[in-house]
Amino acid sequence: MNTLNHLAIIMDGNGRWAKQKGKMRTQGHRQGIHTVREITKWCAKNNLSHLTLYAFSTENWNRPKAEVDFLMKLLEKYLLQEKKTYQENNIQFRAIGNIEAFNSPLKNLIQNLQEDTQHNNALTQILALNYGSRDEIKRAFEKIIQTNTYQTNTNLSQLIEDNLDTKGIPDVDLLIRTGGEMRLSNFLLWQASYAELFFTPTLWPDFTPEELQKIIHDFKSRTRRFGSL
Ligand code: IPE
Ligand code: IPE
Ligand code: MG
Repeated sequence: MNTLNHLAIIMDGNGRWAKQKGKMRTQGHRQGIHTVREITKWCAKNNLSHLTLYAFSTENWNRPKAEVDFLMKLLEKYLLQEKKTYQENNIQFRAIGNIEAFNSPLKNLIQNLQEDTQHNNALTQILALNYGSRDEIKRAFEKIIQTNTYQTNTNLSQLIEDNLDTKGIPDVDLLIRTGGEMRLSNFLLWQASYAELFFTPTLWPDFTPEELQKIIHDFKSRTRRFGSL
């Protein structure tokens, strides 16, 4: 039986969920917050160590300005109002992605929530914000070049990992994408090299802990070979 330490989810399908109901796309994002809360709490209660959620990609800036603005405001609201969820459930918050691109109030909220929850140890919930794998790897190389660490370091693989945003976080064991698309959309390309993949047509606002439990059950019975026999 496989152990599940790190679960990563591409939370997709908010817009389509709203469209199906004759609502604005933004209503889908708002509804998606409820799923984030339920799934995160479930993971904390069920002893997972890390949960990474793809919330905003480096490519999502290409959406209409009104939707991007809405998502930024929603994120701000989420970080403020969910603080109690993190504290009550002993959940640590961490962000990955290029946070520098956000406005100062948002950057401060991210920083503060990371600090306020740093001693919580039931689950680490990682939000991927302005995240793109290629951008993350590019930034890692910039850091390595700037600090000149590659000249003295013999373990290059470790050096790369140490300069990724996910430093210290174990590799992804299971990667789920909701919303029916079967692609990775620039998510955790390095970290999910040997992750088990699962694609579900369920739209993110409709995704439940019950469905997650079924997927984990399937994951546990799979054979992970890591290139060996
Ligand atoms: C995922 O839902 C959330 C974000 C990318 C912010 P979408 O907004 O991509 O929803 P669909 O894929 O258009 O239905
Ligand atoms: C991936 O969803 C990004 C997030 C879930 C945050 P997208 O909806 O942006 O991905 P594509 O454009 O369908 O590949
Ligand atoms: Mg989408």
